[in-house]
Amino acid sequence: MRSLIIGSSGGIGAALLAASGPNAIGLSRSQHGLDITDEASIAAHLGAQETPFDRIIIATGALELNGARPEKSLRALDPAAMSAQFALNAIGPALVLKHALRLIPRDRPAQIATLSARVGSIGDNALGGWHSYRAAKAALNQFFHTGAMEIARTHPMACVALIHPGTVATKLGADYSGNHPTTPPDQAAQNILDVLNGLTPANTGGFFDWQGKAIPW
Ligand SMILES: NC(=O)c1ccc[n+]([C@@H]2O[C@H](COP(=O)([O-])OP(=O)(O)OC[C@H]3O[C@@H](n4cnc5c(N)ncnc54)[C@H](OP(=O)(O)O)[C@@H]3O)[C@@H](O)[C@H]2O)c1
Repeated sequence: MRSLIIGSSGGIGAALLAASGPNAIGLSRSQHGLDITDEASIAAHLGAQETPFDRIIIATGALELNGARPEKSLRALDPAAMSAQFALNAIGPALVLKHALRLIPRDRPAQIATLSARVGSIGDNALGGWHSYRAAKAALNQFFHTGAMEIARTHPMACVALIHPGTVATKLGADYSGNHPTTPPDQAAQNILDVLNGLTPANTGGFFDWQGKAIPW
């Protein structure tokens, strides 16, 4: 299997790259200069890849961004921080999906997955808080769900999926996991790959947790 891991410098991304076999390629901002908030950078880096990939996983993202912590109240909403959240956690992966399409085959199964988060679920939101991260992940979910329908017309054997990795011991959530039990990145990566191995084209457009259970939108 030939895989491409985008965000391969991150806690989960590095573990996904390590667990994806000898034919996996990693791309990241700190190691390769790929900035997913810049479409020209996405086009250049993905355009330089040899096709096809059987699996592409987008493992980029941030909870705390440019020093802005996730909001605890409406009073904390700041337009610049909100825009930055959407640029990284929603628009960036959507543009990666746009440019990744040419990298997957039309005539055999392939997958494009992105790491979303359960807190992006509106149906599952009973706590509030983290307004912009939640909203950006909800927008990400809609971008991939909508994109999956369109991709199914030209790539009927493809599966586009949104995966919640669980609470994972990485830099991203280190200050926020509290007493919540965390999963080591290598275990989280294996869980994600197990879920992806079980998905078929019939699952395209779905939002799944690390156990493969569907999460409400
Ligand atoms: N950890 C958790 O508990 C948890 C829970 C739910 C969902 N998730 C989701 O899982 C994904 C990965 O999280 P993680 O825990 O592995 O975080 P992490 O260790 O902080 O890694 C974040 C990754 O995002 C990359 N990145 C940030 N800004 C970027 C940009 N503008 N362009 C390109 N790459 C950029 C970083 O690249 P550089 O370091 O190279 O700059 C790094 O590879 C995120 O989408 C997160 O929302 C994580």
